[in-house]
Amino acid sequence: MTALKKPVIAGNWKMYKTIAEARELAEAVARGWPQVKAATLILIPPFTAIQEVKKAVSGTEIRVGAQDVFWEEKGAFTGEISALQLREAGCDFVVIGHSERRQYFGESDETVRKKTQAALAHGLQPVVCIGESLAERENGQTLTRIKDQLERSVFSLTEADFSQVLLAYEPIWAIGTGRNATPQQAEEVQAFIRSLIKAKYGNKVADCAIILYGGSVKPSNALSLAREKDVDGFLVGGASLEADSFLAIAREALRADEGLK
Ligand code: 13P
Repeated sequence: MTALKKPVIAGNWKMYKTIAEARELAEAVARGWPQVKAATLILIPPFTAIQEVKKAVSGTEIRVGAQDVFWEEKGAFTGEISALQLREAGCDFVVIGHSERRQYFGESDETVRKKTQAALAHGLQPVVCIGESLAERENGQTLTRIKDQLERSVFSLTEADFSQVLLAYEPIWAIGTGRNATPQQAEEVQAFIRSLIKAKYGNKVADCAIILYGGSVKPSNALSLAREKDVDGFLVGGASLEADSFLAIAREALRADEGLK
């Protein structure tokens, strides 16, 4: 984290929460995070609950995102949702290329690229997920995999567009497993990501880039991860489904940002 940036803590609720449950959770997060501007909190509910969550956090600094987007603006694409529709529903952010989408729904770096461009064209900030599998890590292919993903998805963007993108490093082996990357493992990859951004877009863009870590983030490991220089916040899954644990993670990220870097 540099002095210019504030930590970003995003809660990816995945396919959890009915509309009523989502409202309750968003209200609880809002109650626990009154007007705190030192960090950006983003709630990412399922599509059906976006509007309700947006209402629940109105008047606060908390922002809302979606978990996916299609690249076309409108048309005969049954089941898909456009960037325009997400903006209208109240989203400022959208997760793109989550490993679960890559694994179960055939997302590729090419679809990630198209979705990222569509999101940007409509003023949505993409949170683009990248990360290696366990086999790739064990075979020493982590950094090559990360570089490939970036080059094939976001590195074709203009500098102005890239500056709107948040990246989330989510090692697949750490997602939902309870086994988080160690702070050193996260930092190694995230510093590498920043060095690639520097080589492609220059120092200023690289310094300002927000690189989140995701994968079994909990209140108990958030502080040590957030202390790492290139960890600018978190994309939280399971622990974002309860207000207390999500808020505790956000407080740890703030603590790291305030005194320890
Ligand atoms: P967990 O925090 O449940 O491991 O999920 C991480 C994730 O996939 C966030 O997008």
